[in-house]
Amino acid sequence: MFGGFGGIFVPLKLKAKKSKLKIMGKIFVIANWKMNPKTFKEASELFESVKKAVKKSGDIKVIICPPALWLKEFNPGANMNLSLGAQNCHWEVSGAYTGELSSQMLADAGAEYVIVGHSERRNYMGESDEVVNLKIKAALRAKLRPILCVGERAGEEMNLVVESQLTKDLAGLSVGQMKEIIVAYEPVWAISTEGGRSCSPDDALSAALFIRKTLTKLYSRFLADKTPIIYGGSVHDGNEDGYIRQARMNGVLVGGASLEAEEFVRIVQNIK
Ligand code: PGA
Repeated sequence: MFGGFGGIFVPLKLKAKKSKLKIMGKIFVIANWKMNPKTFKEASELFESVKKAVKKSGDIKVIICPPALWLKEFNPGANMNLSLGAQNCHWEVSGAYTGELSSQMLADAGAEYVIVGHSERRNYMGESDEVVNLKIKAALRAKLRPILCVGERAGEEMNLVVESQLTKDLAGLSVGQMKEIIVAYEPVWAISTEGGRSCSPDDALSAALFIRKTLTKLYSRFLADKTPIIYGGSVHDGNEDGYIRQARMNGVLVGGASLEAEEFVRIVQNIK
């Protein structure tokens, strides 16, 4: 699953009740479980329920990012719609970094993707853009696809923060490496545990356009158009449509609502 853009411009069929705007190409629905649930029993029940329900999800790629110690326990099997991701990685391959996990270890445990630069890591663990940049490069060396999170905090200017994060986090990446990057726009103020003010589809659309403009400046229009840009922040059953169809996002990153199998599966089914 280290396969670049993978048919982003293939239109999907829509259900009649959906808005008229067509979905463009592959859609990513990513579950970020964070430090949840509390036990392996709950985690494995959640994983198995989602796995069973997301078979034959067409062009939707569901990526479950559990706490890393359970990666090896979960097996997506032959289900091409389902993959595993990690929530973080270290930037070195091995060494004296107590408590850390390298990208190679995560890949060896079954991860194909890794979330990098999530606002919780930036805010609580003090991760700088320089560290995020090193982690992206380490992930790529281990053939993990990085899901780079960017977004402003309440009171900050989206353009200024996102342009600065993209410029620093992607510094030194070749065009070939850029083909593996997924950008997640996550305004910190819209994350459910941060107050979860809702981000309107219009604001999400402006952010997606701004991200594409910045990627055009840093790389090219072609690359900017091909890079999957997804939305995260209080996505739940019922509001995903606005982000995917109105804001033209290539998917959603789901935190809280990914911990309830039924709700998460409904999000996937609503998009289908
Ligand atoms: P949320 O989290 O869906 O609970 O807002 C999203 C995230 O932080 O990735």
